[in-house]
Amino acid sequence: MYGVINKSLRDMVVEQFGDGKWQEVLLRSGVPDDSFLAMQSYDDDITYSLAQACADEMDIDLSDALRAFGVHWVENTVARQYESLLQAAGSDMLSFLRNLNNLHDRISSTFLNYRPPNFRVHEGNENNVEILYLSERIGLTPFVEGLLQGLAQRFNQSMEILEIEPQAVNAGEKTLFKVRMG
Ligand code: HEM
Repeated sequence: MYGVINKSLRDMVVEQFGDGKWQEVLLRSGVPDDSFLAMQSYDDDITYSLAQACADEMDIDLSDALRAFGVHWVENTVARQYESLLQAAGSDMLSFLRNLNNLHDRISSTFLNYRPPNFRVHEGNENNVEILYLSERIGLTPFVEGLLQGLAQRFNQSMEILEIEPQAVNAGEKTLFKVRMG
């Protein structure tokens, strides 16, 4: 994945636990320390190793580390570096999620050959909403959970995740989030 993702993970650890802790995470991960140039694409294994090392170092599950990272990505990284893109993509959570594929498309000339996720939103009745997440990658569903929580906070939207259902797929990952919006 692009270095902007690895860098964001590093920033989260430094901001929350300090530089010393980050050095321990990096050492534990075995990842080279030149894996953090925002606009360079790196092997996905680098990102996965960093996330796993974070979890091990903090003695938490990988899914908890990925969830925290999702919140951090929305609240800190993109809010600081890409606020204008975010604002252009919608002023409430559902419009934003409907525009997210466009947002990722629009930046594909900056992040060449990247492989962003795909989202589909289906509004049911009584504030029930289904959000389908499709990825070429495996294992990032908890990251998306954190992203959704971060977005709900950003838009001051109360949101409860009712169910997270993995869907059958030949490659990558497909997950249906059933949520209720307040
Ligand atoms: C302007 C803000 C954003 C930028 C610049 C951005 C950029 C990126 C980049 C560079 C990647 C790595 C893909 C790769 O290297 O192949 C990525 C992945 C991803 N993005 Fe975004 N993104 C933004 C906002 C969001 C938001 C708000 C969400 C919330 C749902 C999101 C969901 C994801 C997910 C889930 C992935 C992981 C890839 C996967 O699932 O396979 N992004 N994005």
